[in-house]
Amino acid sequence: MDTSMFGIAIMAAGKGTRLKSKRPKVLHEIGGQALLLHVIAAAESVAPPEQIFCIIGHEAERVKSAVEATGVQFVLQAEQRGTGHALQQVKAHFSAKGQIPPEHLLVLSGDVPLIRPETLHSICETHLHEHAAMTILTAVPSDPTGYGRVLRVREGSPEVQAIVEQKSLRPDQLGAPEINSGIYCFRTNALFTHLDSLSTNNAHGEYYLTDVAAMLVAAGERVVAVQAASVDEVLGANMIAEMMYLDAAMRDATARKLMAQGVTIFRPETCVIDAAVEVGADTVVEPFVQLLGNTKVGSDCRIRSYSVVQDSTIGEGVLLRNGCVLDGADVGVGAVLGPYAHLRPGSRIGAGAHVGNFVETKNVKLGDGSKANHLTYLGDAVIGEGVNVGAGVITCNYDGVRKSTTAIGDNVFVGSDSTLVAPITIGHGSYVAAGSCITEDVPPDSLALGRSRQTTKQGWVSARKASATAKHEPR
Ligand code: UD1
Ligand code: CA
Repeated sequence: MDTSMFGIAIMAAGKGTRLKSKRPKVLHEIGGQALLLHVIAAAESVAPPEQIFCIIGHEAERVKSAVEATGVQFVLQAEQRGTGHALQQVKAHFSAKGQIPPEHLLVLSGDVPLIRPETLHSICETHLHEHAAMTILTAVPSDPTGYGRVLRVREGSPEVQAIVEQKSLRPDQLGAPEINSGIYCFRTNALFTHLDSLSTNNAHGEYYLTDVAAMLVAAGERVVAVQAASVDEVLGANMIAEMMYLDAAMRDATARKLMAQGVTIFRPETCVIDAAVEVGADTVVEPFVQLLGNTKVGSDCRIRSYSVVQDSTIGEGVLLRNGCVLDGADVGVGAVLGPYAHLRPGSRIGAGAHVGNFVETKNVKLGDGSKANHLTYLGDAVIGEGVNVGAGVITCNYDGVRKSTTAIGDNVFVGSDSTLVAPITIGHGSYVAAGSCITEDVPPDSLALGRSRQTTKQGWVSARKASATAKHEPR
């Protein structure tokens, strides 16, 4: 199919009153991504971004900045007077710019996010094959309440008579089972001819795009319906509870896809895995794990319960013990993390390295085979290979004004409870004695001690007790 004759309009200007939320509806997230981004991704399978027109209005700037990286075009609907009014703005956009509109216009709803590219292609194909002026994507859900209903000319016919909104259904039409998905394909000139004749004489006092169906039929044009393969993919999200249903459906699909690729996910219904996440075969994901954003996990890993991994890359054969939190981290092959390790942005953990419990890292390179196993803060540091960082070590990277770097050479041993005051360099092979506060650079192969000498007073305790008793003796 030649899709170059298709442009796409995405209706995304509405407020989403029924959500009772300050955030514009199309920026609410499912599967870790704004509804509108899901719809744009599907649209991009049919047309390039220059041919995709997002109709924005409510909080237009916020919506625009959330999606403009996709390169789509924007049409402003300053006042939101209904879906028909939204398309009137698209018509006005073309004439204002003196642009010739595409021959056919695929219209998508910004709040119908599970739509698949395959389905969009099949609507376009049916539309061309049927020589239709309007092709409507429909479905038959178990409960059609709230949706507009598509009334066919007669049962089994592809031809449609009208779309009737929920509030305008006559009592005998209330049971009509086939819903309008809010996704359509139009011959653009047929749509544009009738848009200006829409009226607001209806329950919501809005210009309904759906009224165009009956107008086209009255003008002798062909209007057809095509049913979606699955009901879920055309469900809209008008209320938060509906959105969470779509979120669960999307995550379920993601988990199933990963399992089909050889990933073991115990109790997948307890895990939260975003759509773009990649996981290698033979990796095991335990219950209550979250893998979010642009995360890639290699094969043969084990991610234990309660770990939350965001925008991170994990190599092969890595063990994440329980409760690790990773954000913007890069973990090398065979590393062992946790339990309760906190890797913040810029953490680069080498192959076979260990980052143990209650260790926090930020903007750190920890070399291959190095270990920081207990209660440590490593920030703004470059740490070599084979380094042992003792329990409770802290890189003091911040003096209240500036951040400075700690450099630690290969095979250094940093004794427990040491503080390394940056900027500072510890040369390779050196030892830092436990409990040191290191403020001066340490050359390679040296022992650095930065603590006061211990004094021990033998017999001090009993002497003190004896003097205290003498004072309190009755006279
Ligand atoms: C619409 C359809 C209904 C269909 C349902 C499917 C109409 C009149 N009704 O109803 O038949 O069953 O979708 O989900 O079209 N929008 C604008 N500008 C506006 C108003 C809305 O851009 O002035 C956008 C919204 O942001 C939203 C989409 O259009 O993304 C649909 O609007 P909404 O108010 O949710 O329509 P529904 O009542 O769901
Ligand atoms: Ca809707």
